[in-house]
Amino acid sequence: MKYQGVINRYRPLIDLPKGTRAISLLEGNTPLIPVPSISESLGGGFELYIKFEGLNPTGSFKDRGMTAAVSEAAYRGAKTVICASTGNTAAAAAAYGARAGMRSIVIIPEGKVASGKLAGAIAYGADVIQIEGSFDDALSLVVQISEKHPIALVNSLNPYRLQGQKTAAFEICDVLGDSPDWLALPVGNAGNITAYWMGFKEYHQIKQTKLPRILGVQAAGAAPLVKGKPVDKPETIATAIRIGKPARGEEAVTAASESEGRIIAASDAEILSAQQLLASSGIWVEPASAAGIAGLKKEVENGSIELNGKKVVGVCTGHGLKDPNIITDNFSSPRTIKANLARLEEAIIRE
Ligand code: F0G
Repeated sequence: MKYQGVINRYRPLIDLPKGTRAISLLEGNTPLIPVPSISESLGGGFELYIKFEGLNPTGSFKDRGMTAAVSEAAYRGAKTVICASTGNTAAAAAAYGARAGMRSIVIIPEGKVASGKLAGAIAYGADVIQIEGSFDDALSLVVQISEKHPIALVNSLNPYRLQGQKTAAFEICDVLGDSPDWLALPVGNAGNITAYWMGFKEYHQIKQTKLPRILGVQAAGAAPLVKGKPVDKPETIATAIRIGKPARGEEAVTAASESEGRIIAASDAEILSAQQLLASSGIWVEPASAAGIAGLKKEVENGSIELNGKKVVGVCTGHGLKDPNIITDNFSSPRTIKANLARLEEAIIRE
């Protein structure tokens, strides 16, 4: 059957107004990639898969939710969409807004958005506005604007975003034939963990799949759900999840506890090392996307999780191309040599 994007693929399970036309870029259907070498490096004895959400049309998982939110906004005649964003939501809103013929406005924290995301939002034609403030400030502003003006809010406070994003849980179950034992993923504004848990619970009811345990991972400098209170000045190299006051924080905590999982923090160094571990398996993700694997590694190493014989899925939410600078700024630049065979041999041939 021809693939038609997440809404048409799972339409009976997606709560959208009847007759909503899908505004789609054929998002979803992302690969679940086995990574035996990473499982080995964590002691082995379990199956580990990466749900590589960086392979969505705009390079992140946000496309799943955005197809639903923009389709619903278009259905009720909205002409403009708005969001606050650390970058990926902005790119997705801009792309789907463009697809729907709408104006899109994205509000981002100045200087804290990775270059691939900012470039995407501009390329897709959004009105990009930077604020001298954080993502949390931006979110509070867009909520107020959307209450005052006829502008559709497409942050994950919009329930249709979750309707689209839960399809990732369906896809994982469809491929594995059941839920995994554990699902590890990064947590920022907490929409995605909420949506996954919703999706797994729905499949559990309809298809009698088991329920996975969920390991949510925040960056240590932006870990309000671990600390149990908002963080005023969140800071992390994983700018996508540099969030101090998650909009769906309570639901995230419920998802973790109902699933008998937990939410933990990983340091920037642990996140970067997980990014390299993934890249050594051929999967290049942006730093925030490596947080799930960073947290899993930490839990395995300190003996808090026993994975023997289990199936584990790590969700990698965004592509490495979103944030090329984190690599080019932190690793040595390529050597330059004269265009000459002797020099080339000198440079590359190892005895
Ligand atoms: N990973 C990436 C790459 C993200 O961009 C985000 C969130 C998350 C994980 C966390 O997901 O917010 O649902 O808990 N990015 C938002 C944005 C905040 O504006 O692009 P979450």
